[in-house]
Amino acid sequence: MSAGIEVSPTALASGNAATERFRERGVRRGDPPTSPRRISEIVNEVLHGIHDAIRRHKVTYTEYQAVKDWLISVGENGEWPLFMDVFLEHVVEEVAHEHRQGSQGTIEGPYYLPGQKTLPSHSALPMREDERGTRFVFTGQVLGLEGEPVPFARLDLWHADNDGYYSGFAPGIPEGNLRGVIVTDEHGKFAITTILPAPYQIPTDGAVGALIRSAEWSPWRPAHLHLIVSKLGYFPLTTQLYFRDGQWLDNDIAQATKPELILDVAPNPVGVLETHYDFTLDPVQP
Ligand SMILES: [Fe+2]
Repeated sequence: MSAGIEVSPTALASGNAATERFRERGVRRGDPPTSPRRISEIVNEVLHGIHDAIRRHKVTYTEYQAVKDWLISVGENGEWPLFMDVFLEHVVEEVAHEHRQGSQGTIEGPYYLPGQKTLPSHSALPMREDERGTRFVFTGQVLGLEGEPVPFARLDLWHADNDGYYSGFAPGIPEGNLRGVIVTDEHGKFAITTILPAPYQIPTDGAVGALIRSAEWSPWRPAHLHLIVSKLGYFPLTTQLYFRDGQWLDNDIAQATKPELILDVAPNPVGVLETHYDFTLDPVQP
């Protein structure tokens, strides 16, 4: 248990916080508008997939009612953002970014909070005085497709603490802890001091947890940093970076790991743990 945390977060509290934050940000509408025909085609295909599964597995009335009960609980716990981001977002991300030539992206997940403190290119993420965890320095550069530096790019960085909990979603963690928007220098470079995040289980005491337990799946996500890298004139890159040999890398419940997104952390010449990663952004075509 981390300093300052007296109670573990519950699925209900973190689910409702995620739902509230999602509603605050609003749904991205538009590009291009979804037509009635497209809605009809997609929904029909999804429904036919479910109908097929019911027929193939001879789903019983008891199972059907259990599903209804479970769906109601997902809503009551505010766990729809969690469910969608864990089980579906990785495919939406894959489709959305299939034409990109720059760095690989991956899912945003339900724990992003916009409007964090802006920090200079060489700085430490806001953390508690007694923040537990191994300190390390994350260095890198933001580049364009031709390898040109992208000056003054923004790295919106957030990650879990040493117990696998996020500020804003777990009790006792100060607002903005282990979150920040780093602005790179004129060469697109940055050096951020933070702590190694812990792997975490997605909330297990709610409806999504009940599904995971009933199916005997693993609820774990490997340790990771979340980032949105952005600069006017380029497509924003939403990604996560993982750690070489980290637990659960090969069994991520959210299926969001990619081989290109693994960091190597090692002591630098002066003995400080360091890792390096360069981000390549795709330009917005005129
Ligand atoms: Fe995460």
